[in-house]
Amino acid sequence: MSTTTQPRLSLDIDWVRRQFPAFARTVNGYPAAFLDGPGGTQVPQSVIDAISDYLVRCNANTHGQYVTSRESDGVIAAAHRAMADFLRCDADEVVFGPNMTTLTLALSRAIGRTLKAGDEIVVTALDHSANVSPWIALEELGVKIRRVDINLDDCTLNLADLKSKLSQNTSIVAVGYASNAVGTINPVAEITRLAHEFGALVFIDAVHYAPHGLIDVRSLDCDFLACSPYKFFGPHSGVLYGKREKLQLLKPYKVRPASNSLPEGWETGTQNHECMAGVTAAVDYIASLGYQSFGDGVDRRSALKRAYDVIHAQERFLTDKLIAGLLVIPGVTVYGITDPARFDQRVGTVSLRMKNRTPHDIATCLGDKGLFTWDGNFYALDLTERLGVEDRGGLLRIGVLHYNTEEEIDRLLNELRIL
Ligand SMILES: Cc1ncc(COP(=O)(O)O)c(C=O)c1O
Repeated sequence: MSTTTQPRLSLDIDWVRRQFPAFARTVNGYPAAFLDGPGGTQVPQSVIDAISDYLVRCNANTHGQYVTSRESDGVIAAAHRAMADFLRCDADEVVFGPNMTTLTLALSRAIGRTLKAGDEIVVTALDHSANVSPWIALEELGVKIRRVDINLDDCTLNLADLKSKLSQNTSIVAVGYASNAVGTINPVAEITRLAHEFGALVFIDAVHYAPHGLIDVRSLDCDFLACSPYKFFGPHSGVLYGKREKLQLLKPYKVRPASNSLPEGWETGTQNHECMAGVTAAVDYIASLGYQSFGDGVDRRSALKRAYDVIHAQERFLTDKLIAGLLVIPGVTVYGITDPARFDQRVGTVSLRMKNRTPHDIATCLGDKGLFTWDGNFYALDLTERLGVEDRGGLLRIGVLHYNTEEEIDRLLNELRIL
């Protein structure tokens, strides 16, 4: 780890690229360009090592009276501490699970136990289905779902509509931190404040935001927040944050021997210990970007804060270039915020359509050239329906992350130009 004291605000992209073995891959002679981060990011070697090291050295169940079991307990505790630093909460407010969707379903079922007919839940047209369907499922209790619309011109949430849907009947507001389809960042702190005025709980889906920006659940003041480490350079797994008193008040569906203590009461069955080791390593990887830039004399949370400053600068540089390049390609329509003056309201996830080519067709051509993008609705189904593109193949999505390069963006733009 660097001990440089001189702050360096730019990312050492060569060092970053060397951390990810996946970047050595080629496709038809072209270097693979992973512009598919919104679907899942690549992992650095340190994450791979942490997972395999757990399996090689201390593969055991918990709370046993022997060394590898005790070490497993330590791995689990370390993962909770790492995610607590990542989210700025306490370790017992962190719940691990297989993925965000499963955790959100578990939470929605537990919240459902407290609801009655006539209670209302607010969901949005900008959200991934994982933050819509679990809440809609509560309609069977007589709960009413209120859907917030978007502003079609820039794919932002219609805040006036959101305000009009809040009332004394609102039990929960379920909102995404950032759109996995068009990159819009929602004003979640403001939405939380508005919802709390009506005594509603707030659940934030931070899956898409997590690789791009620092999350601070204390200052957001949200009641619950979920994210997925496989979207921020870790293994396939999910994490739920809940305010301690809220997690304690709710009754999760669980099996008999599981204790009621936090977080075990919410962590059904044996956890994926090797993934937890990988999650700690993923948080440490992000923190290492902060340590590299500013020196190592700070705690992990401070390093994460600094890491996201350099991540932001790199992503912003690439996103500016990508959107400026797309806007001048004839026949291309970019969805979402395209005015650079408003780029602080978006992340570098950019969706488009091209005249006379389906998103599927474009993604296939790009894939053959080693440029990995995605096509379809990305489970942001309400959005693609609202944009009127669902029955026409949806959108083509390009995801910019700090590990992408200017050259990759140039290659992508060149291919789109000659399609
Ligand atoms: C914004 C968003 N929310 C939720 C999910 C679902 O997460 P998971 O795959 O961990 O269930 C995704 C997955 O793509 C997503 O992008």
